Amino acid sequence: MVHKRFVSTLVAVMMVAALFVPFTARAQSLSGEMEIFSWWSGDEGPALEALIALYNSKYPDVEVINAAVTGGSGVNARAVLKTRMLGGDPPDTFQVHAGQELTGTWVVAERMEDLTFLFEEEGWFDTFPEGLIDLLSYEGGVYSVPVNIHRSNVMWYNPAKLAEWGIEAPATWDDFLAVCPTIQEAGVTPLVVGEAWTVNHLWESVALSVLGADGWNAFWAGELDPTGDEMQAVWNTFGSVLDCSNIAEDAASLSWQQATDRIIEGTAAFNVMGDWAAGYMVTTKGLVPGEGFGWQASPGTQGVFLMLSDSFGLPVGVANRDNVIEWLRLLGSVEGQDAFNPLKGSIPARIDADTGNADLYNAYSQSAAADWAMDTVVGSLVHGAAANERFGNDFNSVMEIFLASRDAAATTTALGVICIQSGACG
Ligand code: GAL
Repeated sequence: MVHKRFVSTLVAVMMVAALFVPFTARAQSLSGEMEIFSWWSGDEGPALEALIALYNSKYPDVEVINAAVTGGSGVNARAVLKTRMLGGDPPDTFQVHAGQELTGTWVVAERMEDLTFLFEEEGWFDTFPEGLIDLLSYEGGVYSVPVNIHRSNVMWYNPAKLAEWGIEAPATWDDFLAVCPTIQEAGVTPLVVGEAWTVNHLWESVALSVLGADGWNAFWAGELDPTGDEMQAVWNTFGSVLDCSNIAEDAASLSWQQATDRIIEGTAAFNVMGDWAAGYMVTTKGLVPGEGFGWQASPGTQGVFLMLSDSFGLPVGVANRDNVIEWLRLLGSVEGQDAFNPLKGSIPARIDADTGNADLYNAYSQSAAADWAMDTVVGSLVHGAAANERFGNDFNSVMEIFLASRDAAATTTALGVICIQSGACG
């Protein structure tokens, strides 16, 4: 007969042992599928694919379905996501921007699981910046895991071409407007824009330069009149900048990558785009930062970091919840962030990541990390941090009014209306 005390000791030992092997046990037991929904396909795919490869090396029995819907800034993916979420067919996990795009859209509708347990297990409340955790949080819960920090307000150029044309990157929009005729005389587009969302993307950097970080924040806090003089000045400056662009020519037919290509070839001088452009120029085009391309904060925004963060969450009621939890655990880890970010052009969201490691992080990433640490941080409108989805969609109509009329007063009146309707501006 087995002694009772022996049995209880054995049980205790097994329980303690179980505490120390959960990772291995989980790895062995995970199987089935996991659908990852995002807009990272084609040229935007390599960073996500590296993360998926890492996941598969740990969980070889899970079949990952990489369901990416092409289209810069998620314009197409978000529409598909909405249909699926409303139709009761959520992907197992999906890309979503930290901030209002997450909380104001899916969390308020109770479509996302609270991930506080995971943040506690992984110690993430100490390893992600407080301001970022705030963007992921709603009424005491935290709802997605950030994989990166991207910067929106970056101006890109080709150093060799600038030297050839005898110009420098402009510190202010006035400087840009002053040099615009010289560039045009050389037969070059001074500033290249692409399809509609990239025009909005330019707008947020121009607005930030005119309003400053305080004014930008005041706008979202309801403390800056959307129809007032400051906002009219934003639209007036924006109009002058657009006059030095290809907006009236072929902008609408260009993806952000094609707009970036014009900088590389030297048919356009400048481009304002998020730092996924660095990822594209390094990972896809094989260029060396500082040689093949140069960068600076977009004019008039030095010292301000217009941020956004890509994250993934766990929708309520998905089929492969356990597989997703390990996916989220991986993408929030140093190992996951180091697999993803060097290819993506973004920097890790974790404060303990080793961005100083030049084997992993190139000169662009290192400069972004230094700015992220020093600058005043504000949230992007176009990439979901500052504004809810209603505002983001309606802003497209405001932009159409401006492009058709070039009337700053009429445009700000429309902006005032969408502020009220969306409740996004305070
Ligand atoms: C942003 C996203 C980036 C990048 C970009 C261009 O919204 O946060 O990671 O994918 O769109 O598509």
